[in-house]
This record gives sequence, C-alpha cells and structure tokens, in this order.
Amino acid sequence: MQSSSTKDLEDISNEELQAFSSFIYDAYGLRLDWYNQSSLIRRLHRVLQLNRLTNLTQLALLMSRNKDYFWRFTDLFTVQVTELFREPLALRELKTTTFPFLERLLNPKILVVGTSSGEEVISLCIMLKEAGMLSRSQIIATDLSQKALEKAKDFAVSKTKIEHAEMNYLKAGGEQSLKAYYQATSSMCYFHKELMENVEWSLFDLTQSELGLQFDLILCKNVLIYFNHQYQSKPLSRLVRHLRPGGFMALGEKESMAFYRNENYLIQTVSSEYKIYRKSLKVL
Ligand SMILES: C[S@@+](CC[C@H](N)C(=O)[O-])C[C@H]1O[C@@H](n2cnc3c(N)ncnc32)[C@H](O)[C@@H]1O
Repeated sequence: MQSSSTKDLEDISNEELQAFSSFIYDAYGLRLDWYNQSSLIRRLHRVLQLNRLTNLTQLALLMSRNKDYFWRFTDLFTVQVTELFREPLALRELKTTTFPFLERLLNPKILVVGTSSGEEVISLCIMLKEAGMLSRSQIIATDLSQKALEKAKDFAVSKTKIEHAEMNYLKAGGEQSLKAYYQATSSMCYFHKELMENVEWSLFDLTQSELGLQFDLILCKNVLIYFNHQYQSKPLSRLVRHLRPGGFMALGEKESMAFYRNENYLIQTVSSEYKIYRKSLKVL
C-alpha cells in the first residue's frame, strides 16, 4: 500500500497551475499568479501531499465541496516563519528614521501587513512603549492566514526562542530586558496583554483588497519576497495608496521598491540598506 508521502504526485504543468489559480481567484479573490512560481509549486505539492491528493484538479474539487478549506489552504501554502525583533538593525534604523515623525503626531496609525504569528507586533509594541508612544498609537495587524492571526492574539512565544530574542532586542536598541514585558511558564513566555491594547487584528489579503484607510507607518516585511518580481508593482502600489503623505513604509531586508513605478517621485528612499521608504509630503 502506498503511504501519502510516496503516493505519486503528478508534476504541476503551467496549464494546471493557471487553471487552479483562476479557480482560486474566482472563488476567493486571491491572486496566486502574483506569487513566485517555483516556490508556489513547492508549497502546492506539500498541500497535495498532506491531503493525499495527486493533482490540483482534485484539490480544486475538495475546495469547492468545502468552502472553509480555503483557510486551511492559506495556512499551508504561505510561509509563516517569523521571530521577535527580526532584522534588529533594520528595526533600530526604523526607530531612528521614523519615530521622530511619529512623535509629532497625536495618534500615529500603523499598519502591519503579513504579520504572521505576531512576533513582529510584539516587537513593535515594545519599541513604541519605550518611545512613550504606545498608548496613543493605533496598530492594525493583518495577515492572509486566519490561523496565524489566532496564534498572534496569544501574544506568546516559546521559551526556547527567548534568549535569541533578548539578543536581537538589545541590537534593535532595546532599553532594558525583555523580561520586563512577559510572564514565563515552563514552556512559554506570555507578553503582557496591556502591550496590545491598541492593536486590532484583521484578515487582509494584499493581492485582493484595500482597507480604505491611510497610515503613518506601514510594515510589510518578508511578504513580497514570495511574490513574482513582475507582479510586485501591484502590491507595492496598493501599499503606497495606504500611506498618508509624509508616511513611512518598511520592507524586509531582502525586498525593495525596485519594481514600483515611482511616478512623480512619490516615494523617496530613506534607507536603501534597511529598506525604509517615505511618501512625499506633496502628493500631486
Ligand atoms: C514570512 S512571514 C513574515 C512575517 C513577518 N512580517 C516577519 O517579517 O517576520 C510572511 C507572512 O505573509 C503572509 N502572507 C502571504 N501572502 C499574503 C497576502 N496575499 N496578503 C497578506 N499576507 C500574506 C503569510 O501568511 C505570512 O504570515
């Protein structure tokens, strides 16, 4: 008898991928064609394997019979790797370049796109708290994956990760010890819920919709890296539309605005090393 892992997976042809992407777009509005094709195919193979299916037609059938399976699908095909104070030097630079601007605002509005299981939001809240801005900031933390957001709301990380996090927190310019912000059990560190008082969690698909809101700072780190270069201008334009004039945007260290059509010089580079950008104050 064949096990699920040895069951023959059919190669995914371009035609099959296109037909499946059209099915997903028509049914759920998600643009799979915006994703990098080779990593998408790897992830789709994984979804097939886990479901003991051999091709995408079978997966489409499963999804049309069970509409809720889409949420499981989003968990399986996305990469949700994250950590506390990830890219710490970029966070330090973010603080130096954007916090003086945020400090002048009564209620800074911050959007986090693709936040995964929330470590990025914990880090941001701690940075805002140390800068004395947390209580007047409004943070909307979003992801495509429902499950990632549910996990994010726990505001907790495994104890095994805390030593590395402490090191990165200090590199990012942390002012004391992370211990001041969590309660530890034998296996987990639960960050104080007061830290997330001004955080609203929301599903948001960057390929599909807009929030109809504008923000002073947008973090969209390590999300576009999974998108095809050819299609990056669309999500980037969408992000720029969510920025207030004068607002800042930070991408992941391996990402950039290179594929954004910077008409009228709307976007200035603040740090090319740490991928921090700013929308012009004078929007034509
Ligand atoms: C690698 S994680 C990055 C997490 C965090 N931003 C960081 O830098 O550590 C990528 C996240 O992007 C989310 N994602 C993927 N496609 C998305 C989309 N179309 N819209 C919004 N989020 C998406 C995934 O669910 C995942 O949680």
